[in-house]
Amino acid sequence: MNRLPRILVVDDRHANLIAMQRLLKKVPVQVVLAQSGEAALALCMRDSFALALIDVHMPNMDGFELAGYLRGTDKTRKMPLIFVTASLTEELHSLRGYQSGAVDYILKPIDDRILLSKVGVFLELYNTQEELQRHRDHLFALVAERTASLEKAHTELRTLNRYLNRVREEERGHIARTIHDEMGNTLAHQKMTIEWLQLNRLDHEQLQRELESLKCQVENAIVKVRDITRMLRPPILDQCGLPAALEWQATEFEKSSGVPCLVDIESAEVVMDADRTIAMFRILQESLTNVALHAQASEVRVSFSRMGDWVRLIVDDNGCGIPDEILIDPHRNMGLRGMEERACQNGGELHVESSPAGTRITASVPVHDLGAGERR
Ligand SMILES: Nc1ncnc2c1ncn2[C@@H]1O[C@H](COP(=O)(O)OP(=O)(O)O)[C@@H](O)[C@H]1O
Ligand SMILES: [Mg+2]
Repeated sequence: MNRLPRILVVDDRHANLIAMQRLLKKVPVQVVLAQSGEAALALCMRDSFALALIDVHMPNMDGFELAGYLRGTDKTRKMPLIFVTASLTEELHSLRGYQSGAVDYILKPIDDRILLSKVGVFLELYNTQEELQRHRDHLFALVAERTASLEKAHTELRTLNRYLNRVREEERGHIARTIHDEMGNTLAHQKMTIEWLQLNRLDHEQLQRELESLKCQVENAIVKVRDITRMLRPPILDQCGLPAALEWQATEFEKSSGVPCLVDIESAEVVMDADRTIAMFRILQESLTNVALHAQASEVRVSFSRMGDWVRLIVDDNGCGIPDEILIDPHRNMGLRGMEERACQNGGELHVESSPAGTRITASVPVHDLGAGERR
């Protein structure tokens, strides 16, 4: 709740203070009284005021001296002042010195209406400034909040990027090892066979046998090259389209993991750009890898369907589920977040639902770029 604006009344005469207090009851303010310039200064250091009504003639520190101190201090520099004085002529000159802040004066004997009207003007000014300040504070808070969430998103993005780089490096390492182990050995063996053939004079029959063996080795090498290529990017994806590639991947998963994989794939032609196609395919691969590595499932269901302008892939397993603490920890679910990122980059979305009875990954992407009105 907002506090009432406070008005400071400074006068060395108690009777004047009481009279002013009574008069100011007509406006919604809290009146604070000070019977000397020194007392007023002490109050101003502790609290802030919407306005000060200052008697000019006071013993020790007079009204102008007090105003001088108030204008010289940051906290009170902008506080509006109304001087209360019996005679104006001599002080008018001094008043000019305080033009930097809002300053006014009122003559004694005080005309109630004039005083209340002047106080009203300053109060309105004060309330407007307070309102502005509140808006400013709110804006600052909003900016701080946005900055914090941007920084958080930035950090998460960097972590994700690091993870993706690591995965890419691991993948490269795996490919390099496969090529070295599988292809390197086979080719070295073939080279040795050819050198041996060059060095040794063989009769026709022996030569035919050696060439037959070499042919077998070359055929093996061709199969291995095919395997490696398929591992990198299944040709079925480009040759037969996404539904066929998804079905192939599900079958491969069943063969390699031994976990039955039920497939419900709408085989109707889905024409999507290469990015969306590969995104959906990689999401299936990553989901199935997760099932194989983590789920201990006895069954997986993969479904793929088109609904209007969207395609939807669902991978359901009946395994142990993903623990909640992993789902909420951005550093422990990089693979899942990578999948989400793939879907989002293509204008789509990814949902993970999990319970101790299993996990469901749902990835949806639009078939083509959607305008703002078409988005959901
Ligand atoms: N289908 C699933 N069933 C059970 N747990 C899963 C499944 N998928 C993911 N998880 C859990 O969520 C974690 C995060 O998965 P992911 O982000 O793919 O990272 P990673 O597979 O590299 O550990 C896994 O380590 C695993 O504990
Ligand atoms: Mg994973």
